Amino acid sequence: FKAEIDMSDIEKGTYPHYMLKEIDEQPAVMRKIIQAYQGADEKLTIQPEIIEALKEADRIHIIAAGTSYHAGLIGKEYLEKLARIPVEVHVSSEFGYNMPLLSEKPLFIFISQSGETADSRQVLVKIKEMGHPSLTITNVAGSTLSREADYTLLLYAGPEIAVASTKAYTAQIAVLSILAAVTAQSKGIDIGFDLVQELGIVANAIQAQVDMKEEMEQIARDFLSTTRNCFFIGRVMDYFVGLEGALKLKEISYIQAEGFAGGELKHGTIALIEEGTPVIALATQEKVNLSIRGNVKEVAARGANPCIISMEGLQEEGDSLVLPKVHELLSPLVSVIPMQLISYYAALHRDCDVDKPRNLAKSVTVE
Ligand code: AGP
Repeated sequence: FKAEIDMSDIEKGTYPHYMLKEIDEQPAVMRKIIQAYQGADEKLTIQPEIIEALKEADRIHIIAAGTSYHAGLIGKEYLEKLARIPVEVHVSSEFGYNMPLLSEKPLFIFISQSGETADSRQVLVKIKEMGHPSLTITNVAGSTLSREADYTLLLYAGPEIAVASTKAYTAQIAVLSILAAVTAQSKGIDIGFDLVQELGIVANAIQAQVDMKEEMEQIARDFLSTTRNCFFIGRVMDYFVGLEGALKLKEISYIQAEGFAGGELKHGTIALIEEGTPVIALATQEKVNLSIRGNVKEVAARGANPCIISMEGLQEEGDSLVLPKVHELLSPLVSVIPMQLISYYAALHRDCDVDKPRNLAKSVTVE
């Protein structure tokens, strides 16, 4: 499956910003990934030597920065829950200077849209010197992290031009789910669902979200037009997506945003809540639904302005947005879309440079 660059990807076309174009491309990217990773027999297929490397490993270390790190947190859930391999996720810049005690047979997975992030490259140099195996998951064939790792898996997301990563994040999560599912299958583990079918449902659910731009813009107007800060809360997968939502909002609208595990609010963070503080609450995880809704009540009782984003089957009166139902493990692929779009509109309303935010580069190739 060739990952050649389609020159039309480079053009904005009728879009006002690359970021909006790239958000809209996500359903097509999902379908492209499914196709790219399907073998002749329509089954999801990954190079056997990569699957062998995962089966050999007694622990996986995911190394990444920024949005890719947030994708890594989701990847840990898949590799542990589906392929039953212990995983640790590390911020590249920290791991480089603070390597943990390693197990006998670690495998290192580098997640990087650009494949050029210096913090991650420095770790790979060290890992290779130590003789450990490495896999890079990247959007750029032939990038440094791809060339220097033992193995590569491509994202097939097409060129991502906007500094704020959107389609690469969802592509990373989709590829990680495929990697985990194929490894599980190779270990004789029944994951209990058809990933190709579920990713197809996800692609349609993402499409439904990107078709709701007026609603997303209204949410941005209702909750983010004048605020100087914003909190994202969630539990389990929703917490990880909340971290990504906070990063999106920060980096393009310059609103001070932070993602919190819902259960952590009472350990200090709730002191930050003032009258009218916007709190974006993600409630897509059934097993913690009552708990996160309890957290929403706690912050609302202290004056917060809660925006609840739930999922069909878990919705309640007053939720700001109800996402189409998808497999719980894959919910981040759908719940991140409102995060991307409300951040986009919040930045637009503040006349920020959406595609090229101040002080930021698309690929941080210096330490
Ligand atoms: C995300 O929106 C940012 N552009 C930034 O955090 C980015 O994810 C990070 O610099 C990592 O880049 P990479 O995926 O190319 O390694």
